[in-house]
Amino acid sequence: MYPIVDHEVLAPRVHRLRVQAPVVAEKAKPGQFVILIIDEKGERVPFTISDWDRDAGTVDFVFIEVGKTTRQLAALQPGDELLSFIGPLGRPAEVDHYGHVVTVLSGYGIAATVPIIRALKEQGNTVTTIVQAPDRERLFGQKPLEELSDQLILALGTRGDGMMESTTVAVRKLLDAHPRKRIDRVVAMCSLCLMRVLSEMTRPLGIKTMVHLTPVMVDGTGMCGACRLSVGGTNRFACVHGPEFDGHEVDGWEVLMARRCTYADESILQQGFQCR
Ligand code: FES
Repeated sequence: MYPIVDHEVLAPRVHRLRVQAPVVAEKAKPGQFVILIIDEKGERVPFTISDWDRDAGTVDFVFIEVGKTTRQLAALQPGDELLSFIGPLGRPAEVDHYGHVVTVLSGYGIAATVPIIRALKEQGNTVTTIVQAPDRERLFGQKPLEELSDQLILALGTRGDGMMESTTVAVRKLLDAHPRKRIDRVVAMCSLCLMRVLSEMTRPLGIKTMVHLTPVMVDGTGMCGACRLSVGGTNRFACVHGPEFDGHEVDGWEVLMARRCTYADESILQQGFQCR
């Protein structure tokens, strides 16, 4: 069993859980994920690791309450236990010295990208971070991003269809200044539709754009095929070949979006959450 050692509410419906899982903490790397099961009746659900402490043997992940399992997780308190907590899974995010990296984050990605940004800074990169949130009330996790990023841009507000126009405007401004203010790489962990739009914005400029894709997953080991997607004309499994992919090579955006929406129930949509 895997005890919960801390539970913090970061914003309305946004939670951070800290789990005692020494084996996962020992091996975790930026961009990897875990698959957990709450109890005998629980489903297997993937969550991107947002932090870890190897000495304490703990692993953090951030989630938004949108469905049955996340509502159950939101009710857990320190002392409660998870039946299963498997990981770290997936390939770590690519990290090297690139120069100037722009990261674009929203939702759980605001927290889950922190280890990637930390690693990028350790490699001597300059990092500009754009954080997207519907409003200030639902903005969280600013402090570590402020400390790590050379520039932090807040893109608040929504157009009403889940696509945050302020984010694309902020990215457009940065791209317009390129190559005078050169951008060497973009890393995005935000909504599927925004990652798709970002990839199209950077493609003509030849700026490598890494997107973090989390389709529906079951086993997390490349056996079930649930997380398959098409990248560069080849079938790939997000759980073993990703979850980070070159956004310019992803050619199955429509399929990805449709499959994500398949499992969005009415209650999720009524809460104003986008399945994309
Ligand atoms: Fe089964 Fe990836 S989750 S193949």
